[in-house]
Amino acid sequence: MRDSTVQSKIRKWFRKNKRPLPWRGEKNWYYIWISEVMLQQTQVEQVIPYYHKFIKKFNTIERLAKASQEEVLKIWEGLGYYSRARNLHRATKIIVDNYNSTLPPIREELLKIPGFGPYTANAVLSLVFNQPYGVVDGNIKRVLSRLFAIEDDIRESKTQKKIQQLMDNLLPSKYPGEFNEAMMELGATTCTPTAPLCPVCPLSKDCQARIKKLEGILPYKSKRAKIPTTRSVACIVYHQDLFLLVKRPEHEMLAGLWEFPVFKLNNGYSDSGFNISSIRNQFNLDISLKKSWPAIKHTYTHFHLKLYSKLFEAVSSEFQSELYEDYRWLGIDGIKKLPVHKAMWKVLNTTEAELEAIAKRYIVDT
Ligand code: ADE
Repeated sequence: MRDSTVQSKIRKWFRKNKRPLPWRGEKNWYYIWISEVMLQQTQVEQVIPYYHKFIKKFNTIERLAKASQEEVLKIWEGLGYYSRARNLHRATKIIVDNYNSTLPPIREELLKIPGFGPYTANAVLSLVFNQPYGVVDGNIKRVLSRLFAIEDDIRESKTQKKIQQLMDNLLPSKYPGEFNEAMMELGATTCTPTAPLCPVCPLSKDCQARIKKLEGILPYKSKRAKIPTTRSVACIVYHQDLFLLVKRPEHEMLAGLWEFPVFKLNNGYSDSGFNISSIRNQFNLDISLKKSWPAIKHTYTHFHLKLYSKLFEAVSSEFQSELYEDYRWLGIDGIKKLPVHKAMWKVLNTTEAELEAIAKRYIVDT
């Protein structure tokens, strides 16, 4: 009899259509783990160059465990969601020290390790050890909400539980890892958020959304409340030919990344209302304002940031702040060697020519 179950259609489609990705077919759990962590909330195309750079530099778990956080964040720079990198790094130390550098292939054990939530644990256990755990990521939520015409709000945790249940029920005992990967691949390449390619989808005849003409509407996702805008100043402070960089503290967002000191403005700020003495007080710096730039914009998950760049000359290199514990005075090349977050890269790109000129002028004058 012809096997025409959803599972077999998906398997056949995947074997024929899968993209040749660098981690595909890899059986080394360390590489699969890294790829799955990078792929969270991030598209495959963006991940590929980072994956190559990362495994070249940290080709074994021991090398990653021994690296400094700064080295790890530098490789991750630009990929975003940096807690993934910090947790991955912390996890390597635990696996090396407590598990003899071997991943425990037991779900309950894995869930105790930093960064292993249900998604990562299920992905690694199914892809590497063929254990029967279904994964649910954004792609799979979309595929299943269409396949079963689920009209509930995809943001709600009870909808997500329902989808996890459906995925677990669908999971074939023989190739659970391949099935997980195939469903994610179908979501990424065919059952796309807009304009899904239903005519070439192996499940188009089974798809309840398509039967009900809801494929363009599902999944239903409630609108997020409008996110607020925060206004801050990136304080580019120089003394002689060097610039002041500070490290974002533990437990803050973007922990471990470097920036020009950021001063948060009160609501209603306009350039004319800018107050230098509060910046002097906050950072204990004796500074004078030299130049202002228009704000750059950057959006995080929970707020928009408008970041004004201002250039200040400092009388001395003394610096003290309650927020920032670690700081360095650096030239432009030194700044670029640090892990710097995206909003700061925007600031740096906007102001770099001016900063280069300041550093050169000082060197020529002395
Ligand atoms: N997204 C996350 N993991 C994936 C994988 N292994 N294949 C395709 N897309 C993915």
